Amino acid sequence: MTALLDGSGLLWLALICTLAVCRFLLLTPSIRRNGIPLRKPPGTLPIAGNGLVFLRDRQKLFSWFVKCERHFGIETFQITVPTLHPGVVINDPNNLDYVFKNEGVFAKGDFVKQRSWDLFGNGIINADGELWKAQRKAGSHFLNTSNLRVLTDVALPRYLNSSLEHVRARANNGEIVDLQLVFHEITSLLMGKMAYDMEMHADGDFTMAFEHASGVVTERFQNPLWFITEIFTGFRFRKSLATIRKFGLDIVNNAIDGHQNSSDSLAQLDDTNEKRLDSVSGSLIQSLLTALGSQQKLVADAALTYLTAGRDTTAQALTWCLYLLMQNKSAMERVRDEVQGLIEKKTLGFRRRDGEGDISSAVLAPTSLPYTMAVFYEALRLYPPIPFEIRECEQATTLPDGTFLPEKAVIA
Ligand code: HEM
Ligand SMILES: *[C@@H]1O[C@H](CO)[C@@H](O)[C@H](O)[C@H]1NC(C)=O
Ligand SMILES: *[C@@H]1O[C@H](CO)[C@@H](O)[C@H](O)[C@H]1NC(C)=O
Ligand SMILES: *[C@@H]1O[C@H](CO)[C@@H](O)[C@H](O)[C@H]1NC(C)=O
Ligand SMILES: *[C@@H]1O[C@H](CO)[C@@H](O)[C@H](O)[C@H]1NC(C)=O
Repeated sequence: MTALLDGSGLLWLALICTLAVCRFLLLTPSIRRNGIPLRKPPGTLPIAGNGLVFLRDRQKLFSWFVKCERHFGIETFQITVPTLHPGVVINDPNNLDYVFKNEGVFAKGDFVKQRSWDLFGNGIINADGELWKAQRKAGSHFLNTSNLRVLTDVALPRYLNSSLEHVRARANNGEIVDLQLVFHEITSLLMGKMAYDMEMHADGDFTMAFEHASGVVTERFQNPLWFITEIFTGFRFRKSLATIRKFGLDIVNNAIDGHQNSSDSLAQLDDTNEKRLDSVSGSLIQSLLTALGSQQKLVADAALTYLTAGRDTTAQALTWCLYLLMQNKSAMERVRDEVQGLIEKKTLGFRRRDGEGDISSAVLAPTSLPYTMAVFYEALRLYPPIPFEIRECEQATTLPDGTFLPEKAVIA
């Protein structure tokens, strides 16, 4: 007995105890469907689970998810990451439908909130319940039909025009143009003007800070020790956050003061269009102020969350769409023919006026452009700007396929 407990014997005992404790602490319970444990991805390890995949870079992780989805089809499967609550990945349309229809059960959850709090605070993607509803309502008001009309008839032609000029000038000099930057510039100008009544550029201080901070927040979802590593690596992140906070509060204060600055150096337009644009400029921030009252930090969070939801997603979707079209000449020609054909058909007999409004949004309605829309949807399918969503169970529940989810289970 004493021989066993000295030297290497003791070491072994310590090791076994440590392992047992680790196993107890880290082991994620199995999630069951009608009593039978869900299948797990091939290569799932006994204790580490799928944790190692999450330590690899983002692209590799997403490829792994795609591989799993090919493997399982629409079957809901379990993934395990040490220290996290058990998780399932849902592709089954019935299960997804259930998740979307039971908002009260599936909340944003601590997993998401802890990581994105610094950047989005109580903004809509972090909010549940009443706080969510108020922001959602303000947003729908902002996106009402008459506002969208101004967007497509006045704002978009104006900013497209200035971007086109820029691209043409570069092309005439034989220079290379970064289309991603062009699309980001257009959506920045559009959202900046319509939502906040601000002239916002893709390469401004705020945008650069925001891009850096969202990158860091994204990394947090893969690094379980982010709160420790950031103590050492987070200097630029903290600086970016300060820039973003200041910008957010400036927007809010500007809106409260009722400043209606139209510092546009762009084309002089006739009065009616200028008035139409002015009347909707800053309407998102105004709606948010009305809905959320004078809580400045909350309004700023809400406003900045809308910015990333609307501006970056749209720019990325368009960038990928053009990227794919450039690799497929015949598809590009079909899109061109469809748009050109429609314009010719609708403007037949009308002399094209110079400047904006010559091609009204009514002419280029999505329903009149089935091929172009199919191309856009295909680009979204292949390169989704938001590749997944994460929710957390507020209470135990059973999905339509029989999968039992315990409280706190994470779904993606
Ligand atoms: C191609 C462009 C777009 C894509 C691919 C896209 C995609 C998505 C996705 C996947 C979500 C769900 C995210 C989640 O709940 O975790 C979402 C939510 C949201 N999107 Fe978009 N979106 C786009 C354009 C826009 C635009 C133009 C706006 C507004 C101007 C916008 C505003 C929002 C808002 C406010 C939410 C949160 C909704 C809520 O939590 O109730 N999005 N978007
Ligand atoms: C708004 O205009 C005032 C003066 O007309 C100017 O001082 C201020 O910087 C402008 N603000 C913005 C955000 O353009
Ligand atoms: C749309 O919203 C704007 C302000 O954001 C408001 O002035 C306008 O009356 C609204 N239009 C409709 C049809 O609700
Ligand atoms: C281009 O797209 C068409 C569908 O419109 C497809 O049939 C074809 O294979 C694609 N070509 C290339 C080179 O990807
Ligand atoms: C577009 O740019 C041209 C050239 O600068 C300008 O003459 C025209 O007025 C602009 N149109 C609009 C709608 O801004």
